[in-house]
Amino acid sequence: MNRKLFSPVFILFAIAPLMIMHADAVSQKNVPGGDIDRKVQAFLEKNRGSWRDMNVPPSDGKLLHDIIIKNNYMKALEIGTSTGHSGIWIAWALSKTGGKLITIDIDPERHREAVANFREAGLSDFIDARLADAHDLVKELNGPFDFVFSDADKEWYTNYFLDIDPKLEVGGCFTAHNVSRPSDFGAGAFLSHVQKLPNYETTVNRSGGGLSISYKKSAK
Ligand SMILES: C[S@@+](CC[C@H](N)C(=O)[O-])C[C@H]1O[C@@H](n2cnc3c(N)ncnc32)[C@H](O)[C@@H]1O
Repeated sequence: MNRKLFSPVFILFAIAPLMIMHADAVSQKNVPGGDIDRKVQAFLEKNRGSWRDMNVPPSDGKLLHDIIIKNNYMKALEIGTSTGHSGIWIAWALSKTGGKLITIDIDPERHREAVANFREAGLSDFIDARLADAHDLVKELNGPFDFVFSDADKEWYTNYFLDIDPKLEVGGCFTAHNVSRPSDFGAGAFLSHVQKLPNYETTVNRSGGGLSISYKKSAK
């Protein structure tokens, strides 16, 4: 038996990298009431009432945040960043669970503004903001995801869902915005589709902009 392998010094050297990696992951997390919380709250307060780019109302932002916290989700995807209001609520939750958000928008101006907002809110470390056509990028992303927020082109909602479903973990959640008004184009077709699926449990929260919340109960 090689005694050197079991010496305390050898063991310390062997586990030191793991301890450093763990400390690093922990330090990425938001401590309740800490700097990140204060910065995000101040940012949301300052900008309350001034979101003008089809952004979700604060009540829907809070709803998304609370779903992530309740289920301890960590691998999130948002389709339709705009200037980042919903992304900030989602990433704020992820800063507490230790997760990360990929968010996609096709519009360069809004993407640029969102990136600046994420920085100002202190959440850049938790967000990978992509400037891309989600019709292509959603297909290309590997996943897996445990939380999705669909808020881009409504007539494409069903296609986004079909592309993401195989990459959404069982226990995960697919949410979609603006599903409850007749004028919501394809969002209504998406809602009928997902409500019929036996392996998803779907509810609609109509208190804000109309948010469908679909939990994936089993693979099929
Ligand atoms: C309703 S807004 C998103 C609002 C945002 N979720 C928020 O609450 O702050 C929809 C966004 O989807 C984007 N969009 C529309 N079609 C898209 C596509 N094919 N790929 C990526 N983004 C798209 C638009 O540029 C727009 O910024």
